[in-house]
Amino acid sequence: MSLLDVRNLTVTYAGGAAAVRGVDLRLDAGQKLGLAGESGCGKSTLALALLRLLPAGARITGEVLLDGEDVLTMKWGRVRAVRWAGASIVFQGAMHSLNAVHRVGDQIAEPILLHRKATAAGAKKKTGELLEQVGLPAARADAYPHELSGGQRQRVMIAMALACDPRLIIADEPTTALDVMIQAQILRLIEQLVADQDLGLVMISHDLAVLADTCDRLAVMYAGRVVEEGPARQVYEDARHPYARALSAAFPRIGDPASRFAPQGLAGDPPDPAALPSGCTFHPRCPVALESCPEEDPVLRAAGPERRAACVLVGPPGAGEETADEPAATEPAAPGSASADEPEAPANGQADAPEALEKARPGTP
Ligand SMILES: Nc1ncnc2c1ncn2[C@@H]1O[C@H](COP(=O)(O)OP(=O)(O)O)[C@@H](O)[C@H]1O
Ligand code: SF4
Ligand SMILES: [Mg+2]
Repeated sequence: MSLLDVRNLTVTYAGGAAAVRGVDLRLDAGQKLGLAGESGCGKSTLALALLRLLPAGARITGEVLLDGEDVLTMKWGRVRAVRWAGASIVFQGAMHSLNAVHRVGDQIAEPILLHRKATAAGAKKKTGELLEQVGLPAARADAYPHELSGGQRQRVMIAMALACDPRLIIADEPTTALDVMIQAQILRLIEQLVADQDLGLVMISHDLAVLADTCDRLAVMYAGRVVEEGPARQVYEDARHPYARALSAAFPRIGDPASRFAPQGLAGDPPDPAALPSGCTFHPRCPVALESCPEEDPVLRAAGPERRAACVLVGPPGAGEETADEPAATEPAAPGSASADEPEAPANGQADAPEALEKARPGTP
């Protein structure tokens, strides 16, 4: 049984924004899954949905199985028990997440006491141990958040997330607000804690390079959907979905001076989740879109060993059919979907589909 098994998860906000649309993800203990995508693609919404932390009015469907137990159908008492003790979140920007008028030690001890994991004296001792675990002296428990640096505050957030010995950590842009040196320290700290304690990690970032460096697997989101998923290095270095390729090409690479001085970007803006384009939602920005893409909504299909991508140009003929060890496809294919069909010729008259996709590759002339 997987530590985390997300099945066909959808989240629609009260105003009609379809922020998450049929996401399937799996994670085992000791595994690190990266979740990437542009701002607004639904990463934080997905993270909040995993622990039912969304604002009132948001509609969630699907399943979030944590050790086999569905968080979405749990009674509230059980949800409260699962938060912190089953899974916990490290948010972006520790200054906003910590309470400015309480000492950080008291804030770390709070969930320990709330979950009756220890007496007051025991919680104090555990707080000191947790601070030392994240590389801070136990005496810093007496500090107020404003007395700590940005990196130290983020370490406090990580200590807090570990307070009740969760099995899963969800880190939402944990290093975005930090400078690169501190960012590297925090990433190594998270990696080490996950390895030492055999935790599962869902790490969210817009920075594909950071995720490729830290995680085992990588899922790239666009407009509320996972459009590509696979081994982290492979997705970063050889993405199959045109959007994932564009995202990857936006990062300069070590040892490649051309990309360092001219990283490629992607024209246009991500779509408004309340008014999504028809068919493949990426088609208005896709450099290799076919004439049929505004009508066809591709589901995730096999794109190599342990890899999936949601594009009509991806995969061998017959791809898109389920295999036993892969999560189910996100949503039923739209009428007329080419999920199991041969890719058709690109609209721009390019010779064949694989070649068209090759042309969208970073660094390909
Ligand atoms: N509380 C909310 N009410 C309505 N829409 C929201 C709310 N929070 C986020 N959204 C919308 O949902 C989409 C996804 O947001 P978010 O999950 O924060 O994306 P990301 O973390 O990838 O930047 C965005 O279009 C955002 O405007
Ligand atoms: S080729 Fe079509 S299906 Fe593939 S990403 Fe582009 S628009 Fe979407
Ligand atoms: Mg976010």
